[in-house]
Formats: sequence, C-alpha cells, structure tokens
Amino acid sequence: MPTIIRVRKNGPCRIEGEDVKVVDWDGREYKVDRLPIALCRCGASTTKPFCDGTHSKIGFQAAEAAVGPAAEDKPAT
Ligand code: FES
Repeated sequence: MPTIIRVRKNGPCRIEGEDVKVVDWDGREYKVDRLPIALCRCGASTTKPFCDGTHSKIGFQAAEAAVGPAAEDKPAT
C-alpha cells in the first residue's frame, strides 16, 4: 500500500503510511509516537514539524487544492 500525503482542508498534511520517517536537515530522525503523522502547514505549531492543533485556534485558511476530479468522482476500477 502506498504512503499517502493527505492535505487536510485548513489543516495539516497527514502522512498515512506505516514505513515513514521524519528527519531533520541533518538526517536526524524525529521520534514519532503515533500514526498517522500530521505535519504542520500553518506555521503556528509549538511542536513543529508536527501539528499540535493550533491551526484550529488561529483560524488557518488554505485555499489551494489539487486540480482534477475528487476521488469519489472517479469511476470504480
Ligand atoms: S497545521 Fe496544525 S498546528 Fe499547524
């Protein structure tokens, strides 16, 4: 099963996969306590690079979305 990076509406990037590492600029690995992983996209988390839910408190708004049909609009294969 592929790893999925799901961009949440007005929220974090959620990494859905079981074989994922988050490393810093030197290649040092962050401790990950649970899956899936949520990475901060709003810039306000106190636990960067992870989301701590602050995006909800500050009213983070993100307008970007992928172009194309939504997954539920695609025919079953
Ligand atoms: S996206 Fe959740 S705290 Fe930034």
